[in-house]
Amino acid sequence: MNRRKKGNQILKARAKKANAKLAPKNKPRYISKAERAKLAEEAAKDPKLQFSINEDKPADWFEPLYAKANIDGEGVPWANMSTQPLFKHWLEANELQGKDKSALVVGCGLGDDAIELEQRGFSVTAFDVSETAINLCKKRFPESKVEFIQADLLAELSQWHKAFDFVLEIYTVQALPPKYEAQLIDNIAAFVAEGGHLLVIAEVSNEERQFENGPPWLLTPEHVDAFCHRGLSVEQRLDNDGALEAKAGSYITLFKAQAL
Ligand SMILES: C[S@@+](CC[C@H](N)C(=O)[O-])C[C@H]1O[C@@H](n2cnc3c(N)ncnc32)[C@H](O)[C@@H]1O
Repeated sequence: MNRRKKGNQILKARAKKANAKLAPKNKPRYISKAERAKLAEEAAKDPKLQFSINEDKPADWFEPLYAKANIDGEGVPWANMSTQPLFKHWLEANELQGKDKSALVVGCGLGDDAIELEQRGFSVTAFDVSETAINLCKKRFPESKVEFIQADLLAELSQWHKAFDFVLEIYTVQALPPKYEAQLIDNIAAFVAEGGHLLVIAEVSNEERQFENGPPWLLTPEHVDAFCHRGLSVEQRLDNDGALEAKAGSYITLFKAQAL
């Protein structure tokens, strides 16, 4: 073989090797059946993927979730089908009587906490962004006088401003992306009548609140304190399993609105 032919052969071989190295980047990576099953399993566990949560349409994922649920609460991860356990814990330690008083339940879900308040004598309004959730409440409690209403906490709800003696908020703020926190907290605080109370039950962590990290987007202790808007102040904090000291876990905080 002459030198030129041999040189050409070497160059061709090098080019083939270089192409072979480049080729995998151009080809889609082969994903095995087992890997695909694992990815699908992970996606099924991640609500952001499962319900296509869109940061700009923050409440849109609740209706499809409730639409797949049944009247026994199957399909609703937060359904207790009885008084929320931490609210019950607070009620055991505190006398709450609602005779001649009004109450509002924010993000009422399947309605059990509204019924608890009705049984304590309050005249109760309870709202949720999901129409299906509200319909399920009405079906579950046909005898109840609670006004179950479809409404969006992010909308202007001026008819309820300073209108309620007792407002209950459990886990709604943390179910919506962090960029809405100030609006949500402010809107909830605005429902409390002068001299009335707001009970907030929230999961707390010191981690930075970022869209990527939720749902839920746990509140920091400072976010809980941010309810001290519009004349509210902290009246009581009930510790639950050392959450206050650890600054993690669930905070149960009672706020009082100034009486003028
Ligand atoms: C995590 S769940 C908590 C439900 C209930 N408070 C409980 O503790 O069982 C949040 C609830 O808030 C409702 N929600 C979410 N965004 C809302 C909004 N913008 N306005 C009213 N309700 C909303 C959801 O549909 C859901 O029922």
